[in-house]
Amino acid sequence: MSDQYAVMGNPIAHSKSPNIHRLFAEQTQQDIEYNALLVDIDDFPHAVGEFSAAGGKGLNITVPFKQNAWDLCSEHSQRAQRAGAVNTIIINSPGDYHGDNTDGIGLVHDLKNNSIQITNKKLLLLGAGGAARGIIEPLLQENPTLLHIANRTESKAHALAELFSDLGNIKGSGFDVLAGKSFDLIINATAASLEGKIPSLPDNILATSGNCYDLMYAKKPTAFVQWGIQHGATQSIDGLGMLVEQAAESFYLWRGVRPDTMTVIQALKSKN
Ligand code: ATR
Repeated sequence: MSDQYAVMGNPIAHSKSPNIHRLFAEQTQQDIEYNALLVDIDDFPHAVGEFSAAGGKGLNITVPFKQNAWDLCSEHSQRAQRAGAVNTIIINSPGDYHGDNTDGIGLVHDLKNNSIQITNKKLLLLGAGGAARGIIEPLLQENPTLLHIANRTESKAHALAELFSDLGNIKGSGFDVLAGKSFDLIINATAASLEGKIPSLPDNILATSGNCYDLMYAKKPTAFVQWGIQHGATQSIDGLGMLVEQAAESFYLWRGVRPDTMTVIQALKSKN
């Protein structure tokens, strides 16, 4: 039997992960099977237990279980600890789980794929929830001049900035103090995207030649991608590339082989 992997989430029907991992496996000639598993909200630990008891080797975890996955793992990578969430589980043996988080490194790889500079740039991160927290450490490792977190609930932005203050120049605020400031890269990590909304931002907040990146992706340009285009972004892109890059990092953790991501990103884009 092929080695078994899966992504668990709720909802999960529209997940692109099985397709991405199938393409990775074909390309690298790895004998794996990867399925999408819908898990009841209260059933996550049990579902992981069953999967591992049946010999499963690894899991990707998506909304809303990334925090539950953290709780379930007996050991965590350093980046998972900083992220406070797990999106990749390596099953050492049934019931023995190592948690990692590949979301942030996936974003950084995709920014690099698109030649978007982070080093010595001023970054604005919109949102201070789980998605925002997951990307802060890898962004700071690239040495931006500033990472400014702006959030509707200001206290959460301050708390996140405090949590990562040892890693670089990071500040937190509400949206109201952004007037008059400008940033080279604006990253949207708010859940507002899901409803086609974006936080209200001052008109000149994007620097000349600045870029926009939405962690969300959709068939049509997201509300934030459209905002970037309307406000003169050199590039305004969604999170499809990040999705493939985080998957590649998970694949590497499980299989020790690094797939080529560009062909897979192109294949997914041509399907959209
Ligand atoms: P996720 O795991 O997707 O980050 P989350 O932890 O619930 O989900 O965080 C959601 C983020 O989107 C938060 O930063 C939230 O702002 P609050 O902390 O003020 O709740 C932000 N968000 C959600 N809807 C929003 C909206 N309509 N406008 C602005 N920010 C919004």
